[in-house]
Amino acid sequence: MINDLWYKNAVIYSLAVGTYMDANGDGVGDFAGLMRRLDYLHGLGVTAIWLMPFQASPGRDGGYDISDYYQVDPCYGTLGDFVEFTHAAKQRGIRVIIDLVVNHTSDQHAWFQEARRDPKSVHRDWYVWSKKKPRDANKGMVFPGVQKSTWSYDSTARAWYFHRFYDFQPDLNTSNPHVQAEILKIMGFWIQLGVCGFRMDAVPFVIATKGANVRKPVEQYEMLRSMREFLQWRQGDAIILAEANVLPDTDMDYFGRSGDRMHMMFNFQVNQYLFYALAACDSRPLQRALKATRPRPKTAQWGSFLRNHDELDLGRLAKTQRKAVFEAFGPEPRMQLYKRGIRRRLAPMLNGDRRRLELAYSLMFTLPGAPVLRYGDELGMGDNLALPERLCARTPMQWSTEPNAGFTKSEKPILPVIDDGPYGYQHVNAAAQRRDPESMLNWTERIIRMRKEVPEVGWGDFEILGTRDASVLAIQYEWRNNSALFVHNLASAPREISLTVKAAKEDARLLINLLSEDHSVADGKGQHRLVLEGYGYRWFRVGGLDYLLRQSDIDDDRPIR
Ligand code: NOJ
Repeated sequence: MINDLWYKNAVIYSLAVGTYMDANGDGVGDFAGLMRRLDYLHGLGVTAIWLMPFQASPGRDGGYDISDYYQVDPCYGTLGDFVEFTHAAKQRGIRVIIDLVVNHTSDQHAWFQEARRDPKSVHRDWYVWSKKKPRDANKGMVFPGVQKSTWSYDSTARAWYFHRFYDFQPDLNTSNPHVQAEILKIMGFWIQLGVCGFRMDAVPFVIATKGANVRKPVEQYEMLRSMREFLQWRQGDAIILAEANVLPDTDMDYFGRSGDRMHMMFNFQVNQYLFYALAACDSRPLQRALKATRPRPKTAQWGSFLRNHDELDLGRLAKTQRKAVFEAFGPEPRMQLYKRGIRRRLAPMLNGDRRRLELAYSLMFTLPGAPVLRYGDELGMGDNLALPERLCARTPMQWSTEPNAGFTKSEKPILPVIDDGPYGYQHVNAAAQRRDPESMLNWTERIIRMRKEVPEVGWGDFEILGTRDASVLAIQYEWRNNSALFVHNLASAPREISLTVKAAKEDARLLINLLSEDHSVADGKGQHRLVLEGYGYRWFRVGGLDYLLRQSDIDDDRPIR
C-alpha cells in the first residue's frame, strides 16, 4: 500500500466563500477574506478545505448553477485571488478541493443560450431536448414540493429541455463525447490553479443515460474511470470525492472493483442510520449500515459527515424510522424539507446539548472514513428558519461580537447573520470560544489533534464488538499491528457494559484512555467493565502507549483476531 494517500485520513472542512469572511466590505465573503482566515483553519487542524461552487453564476442555487466554469464569480474576487488562496493554503499544508458541478449548467450559460437560439449550433446537443412533452415530465424531481417537473418548455428553442434539478439548471448531455472532453478540460484547468481534487456533484445523475425515451436511466460507470485516469495523469495526488446517495450494493460500482473509479464517496447510508441511531438510542441500525458499507477497495475512502449545506436527507430510512428522526430532531414542518429531510443545523437539532454534540462528533471522527466538517459546526452555530429551503443553514460565519459577527463591515451581508436567541453571534462566536478552554471550538481542535494520532480509523479494518447493550456501540480498528477502540453510549442514561477486546492476550488486558485518565484493565477472564455516563464516549488505545514502537511498516491483511 502506498503510504501517501492523504485522503485516507484527511480532516475536511467545507465552506462557502460568500459566507465565510468579507474583506472588501461589500457584504459578500471573498477569497481575500478567506485567505486571512487560513491561520484559523490551520489552528483548528483541518487538512483540506472543500469549497462550495464559486465560479461565475446567477446564484440561484448557492452557485450550483454555473454560467462560466473558467471564471471566479466577480463577487468573490478574481482568478488571481484564487491562486493566491490555493498557494497560501498549500504553504500551511492545507489542500483545497472544489465542487465540480457538471451534471447541469445555469440556463444563463453561453452554451445553453446558444443551444436554445440555434438548433444547428454545436452546443445544441450539449443539452437534452425533446420536441414533445415527455411522458415522465412530472417524475424524478430532486426537490419535491418546490420543483414542479424535470422537463420544461423553452419557447426560443421551441422544445422541451431536461433538468434533473431546478428549471434554471438544464442538464448537460453527459453522454456526448464533446461534453465529456469539456468536463476533463474544466478539471485540468482548476488542477493547474492549485486544487487537489473535486467534490463531484450529483454523480449518479452525471453518469446516467438521459433523454425523453429513457424510462429507466442506466449508469455509465466507465465515465468515472476516464475522469479518474485523466486526473491521476495530470496530478498524481488529486482526488474525486463523489456525492452519490446510493444503495450499498452499488458502492463498488462507484469505487471500481480495483479502486479505479472514485477515490472517495460520502457515506450517506451511514449518515442516515447514524441520525436514526441517535434518535432511537439504538446502535443496531447503524451497525448494519456500517457492515453494509464495509466493502471498499483498499485505496478508497468514505467521507463521514453529520450535516452539510443541504437538508439532512432521510429518504433511505423506513417510514417509521424517518418519523422517529423527525420527532426527535425536527418536529415542526418548518424544520423539514422536500418531504424527506431536516434542514436545521446540528446544534439546534440536538438542542444545543453539549454532551450529545460531542457524542455525535466523536462518532463522526471515529467511524470508518475521513471526517468532513461543516463551517461553523466547530462553534455549534445555529440556523435561521425564516430563510427559505436550505439557506437556513448557510448563514455567515460568526467570528466575533463585532457588528455582523465580524463577518463583514457592510450593513447588508449577503445573508442575515444570526443575531438573536441562544445561537446569536453575541453568544456563539470564534473569538469568545478561542479564549475558553472548554469551548466547542477548543474541544474540536483537541479531538482533531487526537484523531490525527489514530490513523487506524482511516487505514485500518474494523470490527464491531459485542456489548450486550443496543445503546452502546463499540468499534475496534486494527492496522499495522496497532489497534484502537471507540465506545459510544447513545442513551441519555449511564450504562455499564463489558466487552472483550480482539487482540493477543497481553494486549487485550489494557485499554489506555486517550482523552482522560480513566483507563481500563481487564478482569481475570479478559473482560473489560466500562461505565459510561449518559451520551458518554471513550477513545482507547489497545495494549499500551508503546504502540508506536510496535507499529509495522507494512500492511497485514489478516483480519482482527
Ligand atoms: C447537490 C448539491 O449538494 C445541492 O446543493 C445542489 O442543489 C444540487 N446538487 C444541484 O447541483
